[in-house]
Amino acid sequence: MKIEANIWQKISGTPSVDIFPIIPKANCVSSNCYIFSAPEALVVVDPGASAEQTRQISRILTDALSVSQRPVLLFLTHCHQDHSQEAGLELPTGTEVKRFAHKSGVEALKHRDRNLTTAYLYPWNPEICTARFDGVLFASSLASEPAALELSGGRRFELYTEPMALPHGATLQRQWLSLGAGNRLEIYHTPGHSACSISLRIGSLLMLGDLPFAANPGVCGLDGWNHADLLQTLRNVDRLLEIPEITACCPGHGYCVSAQSMREKLRLMETEASNLTDVPLMDAERISALKIYADELLEETAALLTIFSGRLYTVSYCLSMLEEEDGAASRVLESLDIDQIDRILSDFRRVAEAFNSSPMPEWTVVLKGVQVARSLQKVLSAENVRQILDLSLVDRAQRRLEDFLNLVRGLQFFQTEQPGAVNEIITELLKQAKETTLMESADLMEAVDDKSFLQALTRRLAAYSPLRDVQFEFAPAAQETKANIGAERLGDILTNVMEGIAGMGIKQISIDTQVASGQVEIRLSSRERMDPAAFGKRRLDLYNRTLGWLGGSFECIQHESRPDFIIRLPALKTM
Ligand SMILES: [Fe+2]
Repeated sequence: MKIEANIWQKISGTPSVDIFPIIPKANCVSSNCYIFSAPEALVVVDPGASAEQTRQISRILTDALSVSQRPVLLFLTHCHQDHSQEAGLELPTGTEVKRFAHKSGVEALKHRDRNLTTAYLYPWNPEICTARFDGVLFASSLASEPAALELSGGRRFELYTEPMALPHGATLQRQWLSLGAGNRLEIYHTPGHSACSISLRIGSLLMLGDLPFAANPGVCGLDGWNHADLLQTLRNVDRLLEIPEITACCPGHGYCVSAQSMREKLRLMETEASNLTDVPLMDAERISALKIYADELLEETAALLTIFSGRLYTVSYCLSMLEEEDGAASRVLESLDIDQIDRILSDFRRVAEAFNSSPMPEWTVVLKGVQVARSLQKVLSAENVRQILDLSLVDRAQRRLEDFLNLVRGLQFFQTEQPGAVNEIITELLKQAKETTLMESADLMEAVDDKSFLQALTRRLAAYSPLRDVQFEFAPAAQETKANIGAERLGDILTNVMEGIAGMGIKQISIDTQVASGQVEIRLSSRERMDPAAFGKRRLDLYNRTLGWLGGSFECIQHESRPDFIIRLPALKTM
């Protein structure tokens, strides 16, 4: 069934339950809220953490109660601040409210645990919900007697514990209660994102809370996150979704999707999550440390993207000038949504600026960075974009984005390439810069089909490299220069440094290598005067930090307005 936001609709697979989903624009500050109307109760799942959303929930409940007075049962899929903060919402006098959460969530709320409730991630709004929770879920795994929740007038809700056998022999912790007239609400313990995470099912709908985001960079590693539990839960929920009666899944943030697409997503997540064995705790200290590196990395990526943006507009301009008959140019132009790419780039620049200047909570900015980085990765891997932009530049940006995502995810910076000989890496790099310049004469109009047209165009645009007018002088060390760095990563750093120097208007760059005291040293300098401040302190820091992970360093030494940029790397002996 298709679930629409902000409207009452009947839930298939139930005799008489309606749902009113509140789905704000996906954000990490306040969750979705799902309201259900059943004969004997109104059910609220995850009120969220926005005052405006709370007013809307109160209005909807007040209207529903005016039609038929019933108790309100409020459930938290987990105790995180963005789901739980407004759980104390006010209702018309005389309305009975019973609140439910997993026992570990109830404890975390009771003890105002700022880590387990993730309140520490929201420094501008630190209040933790103080409302009373009578419904302590999964308090015991014994299935003997149902737990009873007493209401006024001698009425009661009975909470049954009945483990559920899943296909392929697995078992899911389950509780359920009746909502009247044959309607029932099932609760499953699905830990991983947090110990207190539960999923709820009414008829054909399964509400998963934040499970679909639990492997995301910036989300995995939060206090309470557990790798083994997450993998088990992903497998269990996949099996649960084999039950044909469940047709739609409602996440804690963003739109509801079909059970089939959720299964596909969870399976991808399982592959992704299986690598996340050593994720460090995403505590306040780590977020602050992360911010410094992410800040430098985003600025560097934004600089690369400025080159992309310029090139795409040049393409667009070139193409609009070529009003040839067969329309190859216009087909290329149509296939590239330059405006969309530019929107993502602007978004990314805004995130980079927010990092620099904003008093915004750091975690929310980190998550925004992740979102934009992923959109950019998608855009940069599209075939047409890869043809228009030269590949070395695209690959450089992709490696930067991947570094950023891995870092936020908590994976340590690791060496993925084979270490190489520095002299060879530099020789190859300078050869490429030369080849790029030589191809400038390619004639667009000689191209016979779309593919060769694009290739010619790419070559012409690649000739706009900032390095095309630079004269290089390379003095390689006579000794073996094998160092602890892969060709691509060293190539990225050297290209960025050389482009940075060229960007200061420098037309001559000297590079020399030396091997001494167990280190390979690469020195970049120029006979021309330059101001190293124009290179940017943050970039210096970024390269120094990146090389530091490999046991190396990057520094800038001043000699009478002629700075030397020095890269040092641990030398490796050839076996
Ligand atoms: Fe969460």
